[in-house]
Amino acid sequence: MKGILLTGDKPVIPENTKMIPVYIMGKRYMVPETLTIQKAFEYAGYQWIRGCGCRGGICGACATVYRIMGDHKLYFGLACQTVVKEDMVLAQIPFYPYKRKYHDVENSEPTAETMIANYPEILKCVGCNTCTRACPMDIKVMDYINCAIRGDIERCAKLSLDCIMCGLCTSRCPAQITHYNVAMFARRLTGAKIYKRANHLKARVQEINSGKYDKFMKELTELSDEELKRRYVEEREWEPLNSRDIGWKPQDERFL
Ligand code: SF4
Ligand code: SF4
Ligand code: FES
Repeated sequence: MKGILLTGDKPVIPENTKMIPVYIMGKRYMVPETLTIQKAFEYAGYQWIRGCGCRGGICGACATVYRIMGDHKLYFGLACQTVVKEDMVLAQIPFYPYKRKYHDVENSEPTAETMIANYPEILKCVGCNTCTRACPMDIKVMDYINCAIRGDIERCAKLSLDCIMCGLCTSRCPAQITHYNVAMFARRLTGAKIYKRANHLKARVQEINSGKYDKFMKELTELSDEELKRRYVEEREWEPLNSRDIGWKPQDERFL
């Protein structure tokens, strides 16, 4: 990130960094212009006890809504990824009520009828596309809901693959759809009913059930935190990014 020395989660602000005003919970603070919203909150003295998870754009816990003073538009983003702007007026949405649904994947078919039976509200979509505009992951949310309505379950699953379940789409939908759960159901149906079962997965499950890894697991669970960290950081054999291309295998093949 421009202008910040990263030391774990604590930014060290270089001298002469420009300070800009932002509004947190209605109060004005001057913060370095290079910080993310999450770090600006901390700089202003707030401590994250809700609405913060991975700090890396993956968990969806830090859903944020903001306006810029004098601009009528509502903007959306992840607090851990979005850099502050001058006169930002910030509100966090650490949790948004959602429709919880038990998905009976084994006894369901990947069809429009299944999706509509589980989430009849998807038929109330008015095509406003607000969900797509709210999504910090640039997912075509309205499109995947339309795929669910049409019964194109695989495309619904593919379009929604990057969903981090932040709930911002759901906070805006006039049809009160819980999009991310519709998408999760589509992905589960796709994995269970559309894609072929992977043979290597079956073999690995059999190995696990046969107790092949029990001894290693027992050894790991009995280690102290320090020893676990040491092994993870110092001893672990890192898999290279191009492992498939070069046919890479670890030196220690006991866990293969
Ligand atoms: S689809 Fe909805 S829940 Fe998923 S990342 Fe986008 S806004 Fe968040
Ligand atoms: S916000 Fe709701 S009603 Fe509007 S397009 Fe998205 S799913 Fe449809
Ligand atoms: S804290 Fe996990 S996505 Fe921002």
